[in-house]
Amino acid sequence: MSSSRILAVEGEGAFWDDREAVAACLREEVPRIPPWFGYDEAGSRYFEEITGLPTYYLTRVERSLLERHAAEIAEALGCGRLAEMGSGSAKKTRLLLDACAALRPTTYLPIDVSREMLELSAATLGEAVPSLDVIGLWGRYEAGLDWLRRSPDGPLVVAFLGSNLGNTTPAERDALLGDIAAALRPGDGFLVSIDLVKPGGELVTCYNDPPGHTAFADFRLNHLTHLDRRFGSRLRLEDFVPNAHYEHRDEVVEGHLYATQACTAAIPGLGLTLTLAAGDSINVGFSAKFDRDRFVADVGAKGFTAQAEWTEPDPAYGIFLFRRTGA
Ligand code: TRP
Repeated sequence: MSSSRILAVEGEGAFWDDREAVAACLREEVPRIPPWFGYDEAGSRYFEEITGLPTYYLTRVERSLLERHAAEIAEALGCGRLAEMGSGSAKKTRLLLDACAALRPTTYLPIDVSREMLELSAATLGEAVPSLDVIGLWGRYEAGLDWLRRSPDGPLVVAFLGSNLGNTTPAERDALLGDIAAALRPGDGFLVSIDLVKPGGELVTCYNDPPGHTAFADFRLNHLTHLDRRFGSRLRLEDFVPNAHYEHRDEVVEGHLYATQACTAAIPGLGLTLTLAAGDSINVGFSAKFDRDRFVADVGAKGFTAQAEWTEPDPAYGIFLFRRTGA
């Protein structure tokens, strides 16, 4: 029989005071609303819609890779403890967990800031994979990884799917890979999927709404709604036009909200004022694209060796399994 429980890993007291972090993002040269503002209740719904757009290929390609290779990946993981960063609805992970549970007793440790998502995925998975044990780690990646680092329960694989590693700045990515390495012991695994570099035109099509859809626009504009609810920013949605472009030099897709007219907004909850000229923008997210060889080298430099990979040539996308090397 499956069992499930949820542990709060953020520590005592307030869940997480993000005011400083949000203010720092808004003070960057191009003001930025950090990614966790994308995933309130409405945002999570818009995001699910994005993953179903006919032009958004990432979810589809990853699912198809997992469908075709789940048994082989489960075999390669080599252990029965699988943690996942940003598990969300865990719909795709189910394919993998099914294959894992068929091989050996399996414990799934999803890390997510959304308690609702953890409860929902634990309930759904418990029904779908009856032998599975689920321990939800409720908190940020950093807190979840720190909990894993201190847990003495034996071999572990940390999964980071959905090319979500790309939704970070290079500095954040560097820190996160360090935290993942620190959570693992020699021989433990790191399963990570990434969207690989491809022509900019394909990416612009993928990251903007196709005719007749508004999922990307809704998802991006909702960052303003969420910011207003939390900190009273009073920016008007109708003063902004969402759009994503590809920065060739940095190999990253950037989602922006462009101001159609000059606007000044005092944000009382953060003690700062945002001033934008017409045509200025607010960044609402990065999706970095990766060169395969450079990625393997970068992860390797953090204390990993590549064990296996499952890739799709078109649209280019890959799932990689690494092993933590000795300290
Ligand atoms: N990691 C995926 C991507 O980069 C999904 C994703 C996460 C995403 N946050 C996003 C997609 C924000 C669009 C906007 O595409």
